[in-house]
Amino acid sequence: MAEAPCIPTHVLIFPFPLQGHMNPMFKLSELLCLAGIHVTYLITVQNHSRLLQNTDIVSRYAKYPGFRFQMLPENVSHGNAQPIKIFLQLYESLKTVQPFLRDVLVGRGQARPVTCLITDGLMKFTLDVGEETRVPVVYFRTASAASFWAYFCSDKIVEGGECPFEGDDMDFPVRSVPGMEGFLRQRDLPSPFRVPDINDTSSFYKIMSVETQQTVRARALILNTFQDLEKPIISQLSTQIPDIYTFGPLHAHLKARMDVETTSSMTGSSSSLWEMLHCIKWLDEQPLKSVIYVSFGSLATVTTEQLMEFWFGLVNSGHRFLWVIRLDSVADNDGEQEFPAELEEGMKARGYTVNWAPQEEVLAHPAVGGFLTHSGWNSTLESIYEGVPMICWPYATDQQINSRFVGEVWKLGLDIKDTCDKFTIEKAVRNLMGARKEEFAKSAKEMATLARKAVNEGGDCHHNLNKLIKDIKMMNVNAHHA
Ligand SMILES: *[C@@H]1O[C@H](CO)[C@@H](O)[C@H](O)[C@H]1NC(C)=O
Ligand SMILES: *[C@@H]1O[C@H](CO)[C@@H](O)[C@H](O)[C@H]1NC(C)=O
Ligand SMILES: *[C@@H]1O[C@H](CO)[C@@H](O)[C@H](O)[C@H]1NC(C)=O
Repeated sequence: MAEAPCIPTHVLIFPFPLQGHMNPMFKLSELLCLAGIHVTYLITVQNHSRLLQNTDIVSRYAKYPGFRFQMLPENVSHGNAQPIKIFLQLYESLKTVQPFLRDVLVGRGQARPVTCLITDGLMKFTLDVGEETRVPVVYFRTASAASFWAYFCSDKIVEGGECPFEGDDMDFPVRSVPGMEGFLRQRDLPSPFRVPDINDTSSFYKIMSVETQQTVRARALILNTFQDLEKPIISQLSTQIPDIYTFGPLHAHLKARMDVETTSSMTGSSSSLWEMLHCIKWLDEQPLKSVIYVSFGSLATVTTEQLMEFWFGLVNSGHRFLWVIRLDSVADNDGEQEFPAELEEGMKARGYTVNWAPQEEVLAHPAVGGFLTHSGWNSTLESIYEGVPMICWPYATDQQINSRFVGEVWKLGLDIKDTCDKFTIEKAVRNLMGARKEEFAKSAKEMATLARKAVNEGGDCHHNLNKLIKDIKMMNVNAHHA
């Protein structure tokens, strides 16, 4: 047998340039670095300088000799798009870097040839470039297996007459997604399914559907999930995509492998550090599991009217709350808002607001007994891992289906999607933190135990990560370069 040429394994990581996509790719990069694999992380100039300013990521990754950043062409930009159009604009602009990517893969101007490309599973042009340059492409979808599968089945859903939606009754059952019959309703489908015209090729719906179906062309698919959480869905998926590596929750996996406490990725700036110390100090003074943590993630915005409903609902519930309100999270903020005196009082007595909170630390804090969340996948996994029951108020995309699983399948909390009035919110908080507290605490604790089992030695995720590392190193041996 001929000796394999000795090229070091070098993975090119290409995330979609939004925070919720970049963070899990960082965790994956670090896991690969720990296994001695060289990693190049493609990033926009803007994102890189933002990381330098607000986080310790740049210095943290500097300690891995095999890791480096490479800047994407200035072409990648969302221009002046409105928040809801940012994704679409970035998606369009990313396609223009195809020639750049080809150059990187054929090694033009590169000391280390790329042996494997791991890209966000929403950029099919990377599959084209991979095929052309014969570099294997592994897809990484950062959302749940459930949302992936719903998009994958979009043609079936349309053929079954379950999309587009007719009338306002979004409680109509959806039976065309194998594995989800019996609990999926139209309102639980990822929000792009709420499209008026399913044939509009520039719609978010069409893009997600087409992109997801292209996954069959990738060498393998990585998902940030674990078997005990999504087993029935993952087995459905395996019938279409043979090579799936599930090794979530990634943030926990990294902690387990590093065997030390790692700080969460978005810490470091002095103002957020100040806020972090103060909100943890406030939590330290609260009774065990008495606080509901409220955060709508890094992108969601609310109107002033919705904000007031949440505020009344939380204050009227009589429970303690820690609320993250980003300065830019109120869409129509004119700074003129008057707060009623009763809110001020309730707020002083039981509430605490911050611009930013160290989410992993907050969820792990003994005083926290619930999480009012937008049901982003990252937040959902963090909450599951810490055994914190949820109230779900999904905002967009995969959040609509994640929250259905939380409420109906895993029984880890309450799903209040598409409603936002103070009575619903008050009632949900009273249930989660009071009347049904024990019930939810029990199921949340059970799932947290399974999540820990999955990432620890002997668990399925632990095993899958080792397998991915081994398989990537094998690709190296077989790689052919132009
Ligand atoms: C990341 O970069 C893209 C493209 O320049 C930009 O649209 C986006 O707002 C940036 N996000 C952050 C958090 O810097
Ligand atoms: C930027 O986009 C244009 C087309 O929009 C393309 O011709 C050019 O090659 C792109 N530049 C890079 C560096 O990818
Ligand atoms: C998850 O999202 C929260 C809120 O956006 C953020 O603070 C946290 O750093 C994220 N965690 C990971 C592991 O990406």
